[in-house]
Amino acid sequence: MRDMSERPLVEIVAELRAQLAAGARELSLLVLDPDRGRGRFAGERVVLGGRAHIHRPFRVWVDLAERLGLRLLTPRAHGEHLVELRMERLDAAATLAASAGDPEEDAARERYGAGSLFSRISRLDDPGLILDLADALERAGTTADARVLALGVNRGDELALLEALVPGLAERGSFVGVDHSASALARARERFADPRHQFIEADLADLAVLGLGDFDLVIAISTLQSPGVDDRALLRAVVHDHLRPGGALLLGIPNCRYVDGEQVHGARMKNFSQPELSLVIKEIAFYRRYLQQHRFQVFVTGKSYLLVTAVPRRG
Ligand SMILES: C[S@@+](CC[C@H](N)C(=O)[O-])C[C@H]1O[C@@H](n2cnc3c(N)ncnc32)[C@H](O)[C@@H]1O
Repeated sequence: MRDMSERPLVEIVAELRAQLAAGARELSLLVLDPDRGRGRFAGERVVLGGRAHIHRPFRVWVDLAERLGLRLLTPRAHGEHLVELRMERLDAAATLAASAGDPEEDAARERYGAGSLFSRISRLDDPGLILDLADALERAGTTADARVLALGVNRGDELALLEALVPGLAERGSFVGVDHSASALARARERFADPRHQFIEADLADLAVLGLGDFDLVIAISTLQSPGVDDRALLRAVVHDHLRPGGALLLGIPNCRYVDGEQVHGARMKNFSQPELSLVIKEIAFYRRYLQQHRFQVFVTGKSYLLVTAVPRRG
């Protein structure tokens, strides 16, 4: 366990990377207890007991662990001023893609089904998504009696969030969810077992033949980027056929991955060791331009999920 409480961060990063390159699975270092320097910025000095240390807010260590593919364990006090930070390597094999399910059996449709690793991920426990959705719904002006269409609804986490965030929506709203996973929809039907919630098993490419009508809010969280989905065709179909006058659209684009129990920020591309965002940016730029051309005002918010909110332009 090395005392790094006076070392520049760039040296600490190099040291941790060297240990990882040498095959270390667990890393441990002593740093100044972040609470000892609170109110200071990262890199400012703190003198304690006649000795100078470098202060770094706890977030610095959380971010560093995440970017190095590590899990940060709860720090332990070490003496009066220091804490021991322990980090362990994430199991890169325990990713969403690695749990695609049985390739023999409806592999594509059940990729996000009830037995998948995805089914262990709860949108209701993502603080960023809760806050960003709350903001977006306010911008969209979603009312208690809204008629909502959720594309790629899975077991309905986004519906539960909408109902929690818009007062009265749980009692007076009506909902249609479309997905091609039979097992995920079975869960959704159990969860929302009343006639105001309708769940349809279908491919999103066949939206036009479902005769769904139009909606006050169309929401697609993490759906447009699913393998096999033609996101641009789907966006066109929604804008032309499924939005009422005054209706709003909310698209969630993932900018994170799930590894070994952790949500890791940033889309990861093959051959890049750190997140590479050009694809995400290109997609969002397309959605934004298209929606603006169709008389929407467009907002892009969020962090691990980037939210594109489109509301009709006034005037
Ligand atoms: C990443 S999951 C997101 C689920 C949910 N919106 C959420 O955020 O928790 C993508 C969802 O879209 C569904 N999906 C993907 N491609 C589809 C398609 N072509 N037709 C219908 N549903 C599809 C999947 O079954 C899955 O439930």
